[in-house]
Amino acid sequence: MTTLWHGRFDEGPAEALQALNDSLPIDRRMFREDIAGSRAHVAMLARVGLISDADAGAIELALDATEAELADGSFEFAPFDEDIHTAVERRVTELAGEAGARLHTGRSRNDQVVTDLRLWTKRELLEIAALIGRFQATLAARADQVGDAYLPGYTHLQQAQPVLLAHHLLAHGWALSRDVDRLLDAVVRTDVSPLGAGALAGSSLPLDPDGVAADLGFSERFENSIDAVSDRDFVAEALFALALLGVHLSRLGEEIVLWSTEEFGFVGLDDAFSTGSSMLPQKKNPDIAEIARAKAGRLIGSLTGLLATLKGLPLAYDKDLQEDKEPLFEACDSARLTLLAMEGLVLTMELRTDRMAEAADNPFGAATDLAEFLVVSGMPFREAHAVVGGHVRTALAGEAHLADLVAADERLGPEAAALLEPGAAVRRRTTPGGAGPEPVARQRKRFAEQLTNQEARLASLS
Ligand code: ARG
Repeated sequence: MTTLWHGRFDEGPAEALQALNDSLPIDRRMFREDIAGSRAHVAMLARVGLISDADAGAIELALDATEAELADGSFEFAPFDEDIHTAVERRVTELAGEAGARLHTGRSRNDQVVTDLRLWTKRELLEIAALIGRFQATLAARADQVGDAYLPGYTHLQQAQPVLLAHHLLAHGWALSRDVDRLLDAVVRTDVSPLGAGALAGSSLPLDPDGVAADLGFSERFENSIDAVSDRDFVAEALFALALLGVHLSRLGEEIVLWSTEEFGFVGLDDAFSTGSSMLPQKKNPDIAEIARAKAGRLIGSLTGLLATLKGLPLAYDKDLQEDKEPLFEACDSARLTLLAMEGLVLTMELRTDRMAEAADNPFGAATDLAEFLVVSGMPFREAHAVVGGHVRTALAGEAHLADLVAADERLGPEAAALLEPGAAVRRRTTPGGAGPEPVARQRKRFAEQLTNQEARLASLS
């Protein structure tokens, strides 16, 4: 048993080299893509007359058998299988004899690996985008269930103005639709075949990169063979899209952590989606939300790690590029797990709208409405702000209730005092995209349309 490159070497590889150099434990999960790439390559070699139909047939059978062995776990890896490409080629050659030895004609692992990775990434990003769509649908369903329930909206984590709960939930939903857009944009740039670029310069053989690209379902082929084997922008873009998705999930996670505290009590977590404490019998912990918060850190790490690997790399292929897969695979796995768990968490958590309303019915939440009431009667906003601010100050000092102060002020009066009634302020948020029932009803429709459009785009790229 030898390495792929034994021809010009006297000695076999050192153990330390093999241990560092082997990427099989990571890249074996691309075996289906590797076999698909080889099938397209062999079909092309036969089409252009570089191998006989008989040899192509023998290789295809060996590829089928190899794929079956890899799929059912019966594949036996050999000591010199340094990566999945080597392992597959070795096995095909064992099975197909001399025909197998023709498989790598006109191909390098440099164009092969990036072909595999592009195929893998395309499929994976589409699947993650679909999972995000599911999660968004869950957010929208919860937003529908709670109707016109409201809670305090916050700035600086201080109560600011009441907002519909649906509005708040959909805010997370819209952030996720940008994540879907970004992932699908990344798919478009991933969808380029590098096969036929060879090691870096193309080939003297009459290869047909266009035919191979079409066969593999790529929308286009590379324009420049050097770029084809050295470009990992698609990995960086995927990692950025996933890192930002992670950031979005972490913000929702942080809110759920906060909302599930005794002090807030806005949500109650379902038993199946929370954990207990080994020591404190009364505890119910929001671990999913916390891990979502933490995963964002690792996703950002995957992105910055890859960018650091790419920085300053001379063209074309360098072995550094082998280190692209681990962060990508890890990021995709984390994104999937986090999405599924967060979806379950959000689907099952109890939304305590009574507690939310109680917190939001703090009369100071309508202070802006009082100022706007004065504006409508002609007072400049700055002045109105100061008038209301004065009443708030008096009320906060405990000298009187805000409603009484407002009712007694002739510029405001009973009509203005009525704005402080529970639930009044949120109904007054009527502007487009605003937090009240009217615009939110329109927003619910827009969001449903957004989900339909997303699905259509996803289907068109699949
Ligand atoms: N395992 C390698 C990788 O992932 C495959 C390409 C190896 N190319 C080479 N010239 N040694 O990048």
